[in-house]
Amino acid sequence: MLEIKNVSFRYHETSVNLINNFTFSADNKDIIAIQGDSGSGKTTLLNIICGVIPKIFNGDLSGNIIHNEVDISNLTLPEIAPRISLLMQHPDNQLFFPTVEQELAFGPENLKIPTNDIIKRIDEVLNRLNIKDLRLKETSALSFGQKKLVSLASIITLSPDIFLLDEPFAGLSNEYIKVISTEIKTQAENGKIIFIAGHNININEFANKTIEMENLNERY
Ligand SMILES: Nc1ncnc2c1ncn2[C@@H]1O[C@H](COP(=O)(O)OP(=O)(O)OP(=O)(O)O)[C@@H](O)[C@H]1O
Ligand SMILES: [Mg+2]
Repeated sequence: MLEIKNVSFRYHETSVNLINNFTFSADNKDIIAIQGDSGSGKTTLLNIICGVIPKIFNGDLSGNIIHNEVDISNLTLPEIAPRISLLMQHPDNQLFFPTVEQELAFGPENLKIPTNDIIKRIDEVLNRLNIKDLRLKETSALSFGQKKLVSLASIITLSPDIFLLDEPFAGLSNEYIKVISTEIKTQAENGKIIFIAGHNININEFANKTIEMENLNERY
């Protein structure tokens, strides 16, 4: 379960709250659509939920994010990642290793998962997303869509309780949209909580809750 309690936030250089006293709770199996125009704060909200704000980006933040009764402000980013994982809007910000296999191994290695199990996780996720052929490829040489899928694979190997997907469908072919949609539904059926930010695809088709960013902004 995830509880967002009385969260307010503004970037230092602005005078009104982008997110104003927002309270929301998500239960296992929820798929939550985060909708709003460009600049309405979707990415900002996801960064708050996973602690990137205020741990990496600064601003004036108040309120609490509670995951399974633990306030995430008491955890480090490496401690948060296996609980709450972010698929970034821009995949180039997410991929750091020379090859896809190394990229996918990094998260579980950090969790001290035994090597055999890491290999199993990688096999499984490559299979599920239908990207087995990318395993030994250089990450820098991948297409945009392939980078998105590999980024998604890299958070799936962490097996987090909560997936934060920032525009997971933007710029993708129908084939990849279908693969990701199916994966989202499967993860939710398995008890995960999924947040999906986006404005250009009908994510309401499978979301059971919606957050309208305009309702969170102090100006409205
Ligand atoms: N690091 C930052 N410092 C200052 N202002 C920022 C920062 N990041 C975002 N903003 C501003 O906050 C507002 C919300 O940005 P955000 O990226 O959260 O919107 P978004 O809804 O994700 O937009 P998009 O649909 O284009 O991805 C924008 O006005 C943006 O310029
Ligand atoms: Mg965004």
